Amino acid sequence: MLAWSMPHHRGITSRAGGCVNLRNWQLRCLDPSQEEERAEASGEGIVQQPRSERVQQQGVDGFQRAKLAVFLSGGGSNFRALHAATLQNAIYGDVVVVVSDRPGCKGCEYAQEHKIPILSYPKNKYAQDGISASQLVDSLRHSGVDYILLAGYLKMLPTELVQVFPRAILNIHPALLPSFGGKGFYGMKVHEAVIRSGARYSGATVHFVDEEYDSGPILAQRVVPVLAYDSPLDLAARVLKQEHILYTEAVAALCEDRIFWREDGVPLIRKSWDEAEYL
Ligand code: GRF
Repeated sequence: MLAWSMPHHRGITSRAGGCVNLRNWQLRCLDPSQEEERAEASGEGIVQQPRSERVQQQGVDGFQRAKLAVFLSGGGSNFRALHAATLQNAIYGDVVVVVSDRPGCKGCEYAQEHKIPILSYPKNKYAQDGISASQLVDSLRHSGVDYILLAGYLKMLPTELVQVFPRAILNIHPALLPSFGGKGFYGMKVHEAVIRSGARYSGATVHFVDEEYDSGPILAQRVVPVLAYDSPLDLAARVLKQEHILYTEAVAALCEDRIFWREDGVPLIRKSWDEAEYL
């Protein structure tokens, strides 16, 4: 049996001949029964196997469409942009599930219209049927989800989920991290703080998710000007337009295995497989 242990730096050769090194997990060969018993007994999570490596093992020639889970709490304009890109093959993947703490939100209405299953997490007054953290992890693993995309999801992710999907969870933030991020910086509060600070530029950031708010490795950014008499709403609208473009580009790269990790832990997007040029 093959089980995936916690991250361990190890490059592998891609089908295209480059260095994938996408998510560096160590492969261990274990006795199935012993390992399952040991993992269950110790509560140690067996992490999701990286898609790129699974494709290689199965000997599939070329990329498979990635399975995406989108987490949201509100309007879902980023979700709609991502979903549209999957339908147009600009993103080589499919949204197979939506997770929300507000199953009545606009983003979930859109999911329902498109027959995308919705999981409620966590349980709260808006989501009486909310599932537990371990049910969420199990459900995502059993649906074969490769990547998790946070798109305006306001709850902290459970630690076990972050551990099971290392280097496979992205978030979009409506400012240029590492400024104007962290606990309390959400929605209009971010744009109010940017305007109050006198910063002349703001923008959007896509970053990998770790166990803190807005602190994981930065993958991509887009910049917009902050104009002299901007209201927070003006700035939010200008940033949001860029968010849709940026998130689509970043997720497209993720699904095509075009993300490379620099030795110091910074992820870079390669323009294409055969060009050593980065965005
Ligand atoms: C976006 O501004 C995103 O950066 C932030 O939450 C907002 C979600 O907007 N994380 P929408 O629901 O995608 O329209």
